[in-house]
Amino acid sequence: MSGFQAVKISERVYWVGAIDWALRDFHGYSTSRGSTYNAYLIMGDEPILVDTVKAQFFPEMLARIKSIIEPEKIQYIISNHAEMDHSGALPEISKIIHPKKIFASKVGVQALSDHFHFMHEITPVAHGEKLNLGNTNLSFIETKMLHWPESMFTYFADEGILFSQDAFGMHFATHELFSEQNDQAILREEAAKYYANILLPYSSLVLNLFKSLPSLNLKIKMVAPVHGPIWHREEDIEWIFGLWQKWAKQEIYPKAVVVYDTMWQSTAKMAVAIADGIASGNFDIAVKVLPLTGGAVKRSDIAFELLEAGVFIIGSPTLNQGIFPTVADLLCYLKGLKRKNLLGQVFGSYGWGSEATKILQEELQKLAIIPVAEPIIVRYVPTAEDLAKCFAAGKHIAKTLLQKIEI
Ligand code: FEO
Repeated sequence: MSGFQAVKISERVYWVGAIDWALRDFHGYSTSRGSTYNAYLIMGDEPILVDTVKAQFFPEMLARIKSIIEPEKIQYIISNHAEMDHSGALPEISKIIHPKKIFASKVGVQALSDHFHFMHEITPVAHGEKLNLGNTNLSFIETKMLHWPESMFTYFADEGILFSQDAFGMHFATHELFSEQNDQAILREEAAKYYANILLPYSSLVLNLFKSLPSLNLKIKMVAPVHGPIWHREEDIEWIFGLWQKWAKQEIYPKAVVVYDTMWQSTAKMAVAIADGIASGNFDIAVKVLPLTGGAVKRSDIAFELLEAGVFIIGSPTLNQGIFPTVADLLCYLKGLKRKNLLGQVFGSYGWGSEATKILQEELQKLAIIPVAEPIIVRYVPTAEDLAKCFAAGKHIAKTLLQKIEI
C-alpha cells in the first residue's frame, strides 16, 4: 500500500487528486503556499474520473484511485480543462483504464489532441448537453476562456456538484479538503491572488457566467474546483461566488500601491515621501509600499495588491536610457492582466537623462491607467524640497482617488 488514500467528499464522489507542497512558480505566478491538483472519481454503475493531475503526480493519483477501486473499472474520463496541470496524467491513466470514452468540450478535443497527439478518440460534448452514464446524470457548461478556450464545467446532477475546473480555485496546498476546515483569511488571500493572476483578463466573461447561471437551473450543493479547497456549505458557495463577482467588476478601492526599484536610494526616498503624503491627514487610504529590489516582492504579489486598489504608483531611476529590468518585467506582466479603472502616477530619479519616467508614462497609457499628474522627477539625490513635493504629490493623489471613488 502506497499510503495515498482517496477522500470521500459526498455520497458517491471521492477526491483522488494530488498535493503539490513544493510548487513555487506557476508560469510566472509565485505560489508561496503550493497547490493541489484535484481529480474526482464519481462512483456508480459506470464510474467516471473527472480531470486528472500534473504528469509527475500520476503515481499519487493512481494510488488514491486504487485505494477504492480497480482503475480498470472506471468507464469514462471527463477532461474539463486541457491545461497540463489537469490533463498531464491523462495519457498514462488512459492506458490503464482503457475508458469507453473520454469527454471534453469541442475545443477541448482539439486542444488535448494537440497536446498529446492522442492515442485515444475523444468525444465532444456541447454546452447544455446532458449525459446519462449508468445511474449518473451529468450536464456540461461551456466556460470559454475561464481559463482557456476549451474550459468547461461538468455538473453532476444527482448530487448537485459543480466540477468547476480552475474557477473558484486557488493555489493552496492543504490536506483539509473543505473550505471551512481552513483559515478563512488565507482562503480569501489565495482566492484573490488566483483571480488577480489568472482570471482577471477574462472578467467580462466571469460576469456573463454569473448572468447565465440562473437560466441553467442548477441546484448547486457543492463546488469542486481543480485547485484548493472544495466549497460545500451554502454560505461558503455564496461567499466565493460573491467575491468573484466583486473582483470581476474591477471597481476602485481606497488603496494606493507604490512600487519602485532604486539604484542609490533616490527613487526609494521619493517612494516613501509619496506614500507618506497619501497616508497623511484623514484620507483613510491604505498604502502599500512594495520595493522590487532584491526580488522579495514578486510580480504576482503586486497583481494581487492591485486587485483591490485604486491607484498604481510606479517609480524607476533611469538606467542606460531605460527603466530598471525589474520594473520592465512587472509592467510586461501587468499588461497581460489588464486591470481596469486604476489611476496612476509615475516618478523616478535620473542623472543625465530622464528617459525612465517618459517610458513609464507611456507604459501607463498601454495599461489604460489614467495618470493623476505629470511624472515626478528628481535629478540625482532629492533635496528636502524635492521630498516635500513628493509628499504634496501623495496628498494630491489621495484626494484625486477619493474624488474618483465618490463619483
Ligand atoms: Fe489549473 Fe488553467 O490550469
